[in-house]
Amino acid sequence: MDQYAVFGNPIAHSKSPFIHKMFAEQTGQSLHYAAILSPLDGFAESVSTFIASGGRGANVTVPFKEQAFKLVEQLSPAARQAGSVNTLIYQDGKLLGDNTDGIGLVKDLLFNGVGLKDKAVLILGAGGATRGVVLPILKQQPGMLHIANRTAAKAEELARHFCQFGPVTGSGLEAIPPMAFDVVINASSSSLSGESPDIASSYIANQPVCYDMVYGKEITAFNNWCAAQGAGLTLDGLGMLVEQAAQSFYLWRGIMPDTQPVRQALRMSLSQA
Ligand code: ATR
Repeated sequence: MDQYAVFGNPIAHSKSPFIHKMFAEQTGQSLHYAAILSPLDGFAESVSTFIASGGRGANVTVPFKEQAFKLVEQLSPAARQAGSVNTLIYQDGKLLGDNTDGIGLVKDLLFNGVGLKDKAVLILGAGGATRGVVLPILKQQPGMLHIANRTAAKAEELARHFCQFGPVTGSGLEAIPPMAFDVVINASSSSLSGESPDIASSYIANQPVCYDMVYGKEITAFNNWCAAQGAGLTLDGLGMLVEQAAQSFYLWRGIMPDTQPVRQALRMSLSQA
């Protein structure tokens, strides 16, 4: 049976095996998908052991996405711009790296009826999560994209890197252009520590769509704050997780699964956890 896996550390709580098992059943694909705990200093060895034992492809999660970027023999344009790899494809004796996170976010927004064309988009955070989604957002031709980060220099640096691809600017959280945004995305890790980035409520005066790339059993700190400020819609990152997985599945198997039943099953399992 064709072997697939997700590499991470920690990995026990990964939803990827659950998601890909459902995709495989739904599409009638015969494959096995495992969660592999790679030692922090042994990612390359873990991948080569997996490939040697018949691995055809894998997902890569925290903290190995940048190492995967360096490891692969060939990068997709998305991975090259993201500076990280979340999908490994072993094909014709060669290890290819792609990044499906950004397309996962865009597809989840579209799934929820949110297009980005001509919209004013604000993204909070300037770490790996932001870097992975900027280019796919710009491809949707927003009117403008502003990256704001607690450490201003990182947001300014990302904006400089991506400004050749579209209208993107960067600043600290306290220097966001004074306007109301249509879509506000939290790509910072603030919700993981139960905090929301410290921004003025005027930025979400326009009843925007607020999107937290983190998800959990409870509503995230950012989405709670946005809802209290009158956000038009709040979405968490569960749909993005499923959509990036669907895109990886498509790269491996050439079949795009239906994400709807998987979204429902995951949400249900979260509420029962
Ligand atoms: P990831 O790969 O998830 O993006 P990361 O590269 O460590 O993780 O980046 C985390 C991001 O969340 C950073 O932009 C960080 O801001 P700094 O660059 O100033 O450290 C941001 N972040 C984390 N906690 C935050 C908080 N409580 N409020 C605002 N931003 C926060």
